[in-house]
Amino acid sequence: MRGIDELGDLRGQRVLLRSDLNVPLEGEAGESVITDDGRVRASVPTIQQLTAAGARVVVMAHLGRPKGAPDAKYSLAPVAKRLSELLGAEVAFATDTVGENAQKTVAALADGDVALLENLRFDARETSKDDAERGAFAAELAELGDVFVSDGFGVVHRKQASVYDLAKALPHAAGLLVQAEVRAFAKVLDDPERPYVVVLGGSKVSDKLGVIDNLLEKVDRLLIGGGMAFTFLKAQGYEVGGSLLEEEQLDTVREYLSRAADRGVELVLPVDVVVAADISADAATSVVQAAAIPADQKGLDIGPATIELFRGKLVDAKTVVWNGPMGVFELAPFAEGTREVAVAISSLVGGTSVVGGGDSAAAVRQLGLDEGAFTHISTGGGASLELLEGKELPGLTVLED
Ligand code: 3PG
Repeated sequence: MRGIDELGDLRGQRVLLRSDLNVPLEGEAGESVITDDGRVRASVPTIQQLTAAGARVVVMAHLGRPKGAPDAKYSLAPVAKRLSELLGAEVAFATDTVGENAQKTVAALADGDVALLENLRFDARETSKDDAERGAFAAELAELGDVFVSDGFGVVHRKQASVYDLAKALPHAAGLLVQAEVRAFAKVLDDPERPYVVVLGGSKVSDKLGVIDNLLEKVDRLLIGGGMAFTFLKAQGYEVGGSLLEEEQLDTVREYLSRAADRGVELVLPVDVVVAADISADAATSVVQAAAIPADQKGLDIGPATIELFRGKLVDAKTVVWNGPMGVFELAPFAEGTREVAVAISSLVGGTSVVGGGDSAAAVRQLGLDEGAFTHISTGGGASLELLEGKELPGLTVLED
């Protein structure tokens, strides 16, 4: 995979840069604020490297899932503002993607300047399943640049015009973020130091089937928390009360339990849980044994004995991959499990810790933990899951030629 340095002298060149600036926003269109700017911050080093090289940087990104037409609530305008603040330089915002305004904005760039195009998904061709439609959009985007740099790791699992087809249309390279993400995942997938521990959480086991399937072949220990743990507990014969349960996955989960036993993988489940009748910030909570969840209660976090158990399984780890919170961390009564497990992972001595994007990365930031204490925090939710599933991602494969 070529890096930016291999693109030659970029002074005066128009660089089309695909970033993933898909961040959570709160508030009405026109006044919305970014509630987690992690992805915007992660896009900065590549932009700075390009501007330092004298390139004219044209950043392309998507926000949310608009229906293929302009929609003010999905405008990237607030992101352009945040990007300007982080770069300490004005980012020119184009109010369309390949139209008159984008052309004018790009033409006005001087060496070292940065522009951001409006949400690419305002054009239905960006996400089209039809190769010709996507190709036509990519060709129009290609008119705005001389070279293409792919740095939107969070979207490399999508075969979309700005991710895939554009790399076919222009000389291309991977940006610093994509390179760092690929290196981090290659290390834990292909060359892990042992003991190798994977911590999985999140609400649904059905979202993690491919990951469990792939990683069961590689890891020494698999710790399972979050809502998905209850399907495992049920598969072991426990009653889970009103906790999340995916009945239709029980057979699959039983198969994982027996495969883990056959392979000598320690599959560790919660021994106690924090329960409440409702999911609310002022819920009355109690801690019960995993084997004794009352019928009218829901398990919403791992309990203190489980935190201790998981800590003990992490303390000597040399490689840890963590994907998915241990409970409903967004609400204070159910945040402790996620916080303590995250702290245990970030305290590894001399080990590699990789945090999958999405909710786990959001939890690290929302709980105010030290991001620098982890080896790598991914910016990809779906993309990092697909890598952990062992899949080939179109936006990475296309950069290989
Ligand atoms: C993400 O948030 O995971 C990426 O930005 C991709 O977004 P998408 O799932 O809407 O394609």
